[in-house]
Amino acid sequence: RNRSIGYMTRKFPDKFLWGASTAAHQVEGNNIYSDWWAWEQNIPDRPKSGVACNHYKLYKQDFALAKSLKHNVHRLSVEWARIEPTEGYFDEKEIKHYKEVLQELRNQGMKIILTLWHFSLPKWFADKGGFEKLGNVRYFERYVETCGKNFGEWVDYWVTINEPNTYISFAYLNGMRPPQKINFLAGTKVYLILSWAHRRAYGALHRLNPKFLISAAHQMTDFYPASRNAIDKWLCGVTNFYVNDLFLLMNRGCFDYFGLNYYLRISVSLKFFVTGITNSLLKDISMGVGEAVGWKMDPEGLYNIVKKLQKEIGKPIIILENGVDDAKDLMRQKLIMGHLEWLHKAIAEGVDIFGYLHWSLIDNFEWHSGFEPRFGLVEMDYSNLKRTPRPSALVYAEIIKNNKLPG
Ligand code: BGC
Repeated sequence: RNRSIGYMTRKFPDKFLWGASTAAHQVEGNNIYSDWWAWEQNIPDRPKSGVACNHYKLYKQDFALAKSLKHNVHRLSVEWARIEPTEGYFDEKEIKHYKEVLQELRNQGMKIILTLWHFSLPKWFADKGGFEKLGNVRYFERYVETCGKNFGEWVDYWVTINEPNTYISFAYLNGMRPPQKINFLAGTKVYLILSWAHRRAYGALHRLNPKFLISAAHQMTDFYPASRNAIDKWLCGVTNFYVNDLFLLMNRGCFDYFGLNYYLRISVSLKFFVTGITNSLLKDISMGVGEAVGWKMDPEGLYNIVKKLQKEIGKPIIILENGVDDAKDLMRQKLIMGHLEWLHKAIAEGVDIFGYLHWSLIDNFEWHSGFEPRFGLVEMDYSNLKRTPRPSALVYAEIIKNNKLPG
């Protein structure tokens, strides 16, 4: 039990990190050497990232906005396809660009969480088979080393890879994202290779500096059986193992802190399984995100997961993503408050949680769903790229200012 926090005070620990996350391909624009860019161009009516939010050029404006919203940390990713656009050629111009980006965050007085891989691959790497081939991990490791050497002086927390489970779900299990395969075995192999890639990246960064603080961003879902039926219970256990625990198991000892992405609590039943598999096989891409699928807001799941992590990993935890597609900003405030209430309870009970980052700072390119989903604290008018903070962003700013939930 963390006495200094206490259930009643509604306060968060001193120096708690508050902020938001973004990913390069979703906000920067013109990621022309990536597999995603190539894939987007392939089919006429497929959503195209184009200039996205033009964050590549407007990053100073975005960081100033984050600062004005009281954020004291920011999570961003660097784009491998920019840094190494062709095999073995590291572009000094792009490395310099990212150094300027990181320096700008430093100038704004914000802590920096840097992700090295967030779903998009250099086209040349994808053409070599991407993470389908164990031998390709060495290319990733070389890129990670380059990032470690060049960006180390700015980075407070490293994130090697983002959500390997989400990556394989969309790219290999339901076929909605490149390389659009539907193959459980191939997907599982990629999942294991990505786990290995995390281990290698962890080692490579630590060889450069043993003091670096390194994690992956692992999305965990709170699965629970839909009934007491033995089949539902068993399926729930299997799902939980595959989605949540396998990655933890594979990477024992490779987390200096734990980066958690949390969005969902899901009830598992035979029907859930059959529908999931059928949708994949029928390539049912009507399933969107957020409002469209009616993601159930279930903040208690976050509490369950952090308690589990405290027991199983025992490292300080930071929430690196949590958010909702909510163009009208009707749910976001409730979502933030709800999750913070449960986080606070966990902290009061002694779980070491040192930050919360919302997904996302600005509306952005939501992968295969394009620009329609709106996850931003800040609304984007794509006709002129004007940024306007939503009311929930102001409520969040007030919480940050007081380091405390309202009474
Ligand atoms: C991903 C983000 C994505 C968000 C909302 C997370 O799984 O890391 O890139 O935009 O979910 O779907």
